Amino acid sequence: MLSQPTHPTNNCNGASSDANPPSSVSLPPHYLRDEAAALQSALASINLDAAMRRTISGQANQLAARVRLDCLSGTLIDSLLLEYGLSNEEGIVLMRLAEALIRTPDKATAALLVRDKIGSANWAAHRGHSQSPMVNAATSGLRLSAAWISTSGGPQAERLYGKLGDAVMVQVVSRAMAMMGDYFVLGQNIEAATRRAASGHAQGCLYSYDMLGEAALTEADATTYFNAYLSAMQHLAACVDQHSNVSMSDSLSIKLSALHPRFEYGRRDTCVPQLVARVTALAKIAKRANLGLTIDAEEADRMEVTLLVFERLLQEPELVDWSGLGLVVQAYQRRALALIDTVTQRTRMAGRKISIRLVKGAYWDMEIKRAQELGLQSYPVFTRKENTDANYLACARALLCQSDIIFPQFATHNAHSAVAVIKMAEQQGLPVSRFEMQRLHGMGAELHARLAEKYDVKTRIYAPVGAHKDLLAYLVRRLLENGANSSFVNQLTDQRIAISDIVRDPLQLCHANETAAHPKIKKPTACVEAGRLQADGYDWTQSEQAAFLETAAQQVISDETKNGAPVFSPQAINNIVAYAPRQKVEAVSQAIDRLGENNDWAASTAQYRADILKKTADLLAADITHFIALLVQEAGKTIPDAISEIREAIDFCRYYANQAVRPAYASRDPLGVVAAISPWNFPLAIFLGQITAALSVGNRVVAK
Ligand code: FAD
Ligand code: 2OP
Repeated sequence: MLSQPTHPTNNCNGASSDANPPSSVSLPPHYLRDEAAALQSALASINLDAAMRRTISGQANQLAARVRLDCLSGTLIDSLLLEYGLSNEEGIVLMRLAEALIRTPDKATAALLVRDKIGSANWAAHRGHSQSPMVNAATSGLRLSAAWISTSGGPQAERLYGKLGDAVMVQVVSRAMAMMGDYFVLGQNIEAATRRAASGHAQGCLYSYDMLGEAALTEADATTYFNAYLSAMQHLAACVDQHSNVSMSDSLSIKLSALHPRFEYGRRDTCVPQLVARVTALAKIAKRANLGLTIDAEEADRMEVTLLVFERLLQEPELVDWSGLGLVVQAYQRRALALIDTVTQRTRMAGRKISIRLVKGAYWDMEIKRAQELGLQSYPVFTRKENTDANYLACARALLCQSDIIFPQFATHNAHSAVAVIKMAEQQGLPVSRFEMQRLHGMGAELHARLAEKYDVKTRIYAPVGAHKDLLAYLVRRLLENGANSSFVNQLTDQRIAISDIVRDPLQLCHANETAAHPKIKKPTACVEAGRLQADGYDWTQSEQAAFLETAAQQVISDETKNGAPVFSPQAINNIVAYAPRQKVEAVSQAIDRLGENNDWAASTAQYRADILKKTADLLAADITHFIALLVQEAGKTIPDAISEIREAIDFCRYYANQAVRPAYASRDPLGVVAAISPWNFPLAIFLGQITAALSVGNRVVAK
């Protein structure tokens, strides 16, 4: 792909080239790296002096102003997302409706859903507010629908108009959602998409087709998606103009989550070989036709397992001499720079050349939520947008410094980021044929047209192909991106925001911030009610923690006493994992009597009981690996389920400790002796939840 090897030295402090091989990078510690440290590394490697930064800002400002003029009338989708973005309640209602309606197949439920969502929002607040008459008309429609919903509750009206009205409303809303889908999709099948791509080709653009579908749930899904990729690749190989230089040919973008139902680090032994086989089958066709094949970046927890697949592909003997293999790096990840180091090092060692698409990342909201849900020590992504923007430039520099083996592909719709990377390439002496710009179909067309005009750079369009039923996840990511008021495309359509406020130098913003992390985004474990600690979590999708947890789960749970009946493992039914004493019914009566006689606990103070419950939580947390092993061996839990369960058990103890001292709670009289029988499938969390609830108010408990 790359004609001339170069030995870049300019602005590449620390970055390696073949003249300066990289040191071995250990990726895992960078996963939840401290945000300030990650930002510091980024800022230190961008290497743009003040004069160059002024030039970039000046040119980006001019460009953005021009693009705003180009799309003054805006598309209907732009105007709709500006009025109903994520910054207002009604926008969120529409987003939820879009997300839920596509996967609600039965009409009655769809009608209830539309009623629930449309009827609950304040559409009047948007009356005549948009600059687009079409959006104002849509607002009127929504207002009328809401009014109709609120008055159509009577049995008479319901009988006469209800069903008909609902059906029409579902039709209208579904049609609007389908229109939105069409906007982001190039064609319903690859034949239609390649026909439609002719106009883009005529304007000098290239395409990377993406067959919609991801996160296969079953092997049948994975086979269907694989067949879709295969026929698309065969179609491209047969029909599309092939260039002797693979970087000048079209390509296919794939998602590994579409190709295996358990594409997870924990399942690496089974999923990696199958994924390698499937991707190799596609890559062999791509190689013969000199086309590209890029593996998209998905959720951060899939990154290490993606890397395992990628390394195997680098070693694949049938793919040598083909430089069309591509990987995507997400600059919002704190480990992005370390990832580039790792990937380039392995590519160099394999004697290969690849392409790397640099994006900021499309799963930000999900990454934040996931880290909070799992109780991780920190976030894998930056929490301030300007940090991501700065890291994007640091990653761009790292890629440009490795351009002897990497073909950089800069995917962005942000004028500042785009101009900055073009200027950095220019600084580095890299001709425009040695990198490319990328945009998504339905987004950034005017910006990229102007970039081509001014800088003579080439654009590749990422073009989703497929049916509406497979569009949901992709559409939601686009709606989030276009609807977020922090995003460049959203701000550009908002005429009220000055261009100079949109095109801001991220380095300046980073330096001006008092803290690297966003002050409103708390640490993941701090995201519970005040005064209650969330149990620390583990992320077993990361190699270091997975190794620790896998060892923990295999701990020998020795039971020396061997009293009572043997308990067999549900997952290996000949293994005895414990001995459980069996009690006679009389023993229960005796326990109840004995507890009835002892009043110490009921007479204890609420604070005393709260302290005991907190201490219980701390003891569980201190011995967490033992409980994980018990849950895996005795209850047949998977490791992630076992982690969730022990964390829930700890949370219960802390929750009821907090409740115990609340005045309304502490003043209640205990009931006396309470029986607790928990379900078998949560032998620790619900068992403890019931007991601690009862204990916290002074009850005594007999638990089965
Ligand atoms: P901007 O508006 O400048 O940036 C928006 C981005 O900033 C957000 O998407 C997010 O990443 C980041 N951000 C927003 N708020 C914060 C915050 N508070 N803290 C930190 N960061 C924040 N994405 C993938 O994940 N995987 C892919 O494989 C992929 N392929 C793509 C291919 C192409 C050709 C293109 C154009 C995009 C692709 N994307 C992919 C989507 C891409 O990640 C988004 O389009 C991109 O993030 C938008 O960035 P921007 O520079 O255009 O816009
Ligand atoms: C996504 O699917 C474009 O890969 C990116 O959101």
